[in-house]
Amino acid sequence: MADPGFVKVAQVSEIKPGDMMAVEVDNEQVLLANVDGNIHAVDDICSHAYASLSEGDLNGEDIECPLHGVTFNVTPGEPLVPPVSEAIRVYKVQIEGDDILVGPANT
Ligand code: FES
Repeated sequence: MADPGFVKVAQVSEIKPGDMMAVEVDNEQVLLANVDGNIHAVDDICSHAYASLSEGDLNGEDIECPLHGVTFNVTPGEPLVPPVSEAIRVYKVQIEGDDILVGPANT
């Protein structure tokens, strides 16, 4: 049984290692990224302007925004290069069997 505040959003088998998928959680667009078999969840919308990070590239733990090329690390959500200084939110993730559940953002 899922912990309160966690919502099933997808299945692990839908996202291969190195792939990303956008889902909606409580009216927020959330990006799921499979990094070496570990599922991470972060904001899908870039903190710089309106761009969907899931349309960018995933290189290891780093997501490159498709619009201006800023790279964010999926673990802390921090941008790695200017001009962006604001981090994207990182969400808690639980795996139950093949189910991916996303919870509140880490603050
Ligand atoms: S919109 Fe993502 S880097 Fe500018």
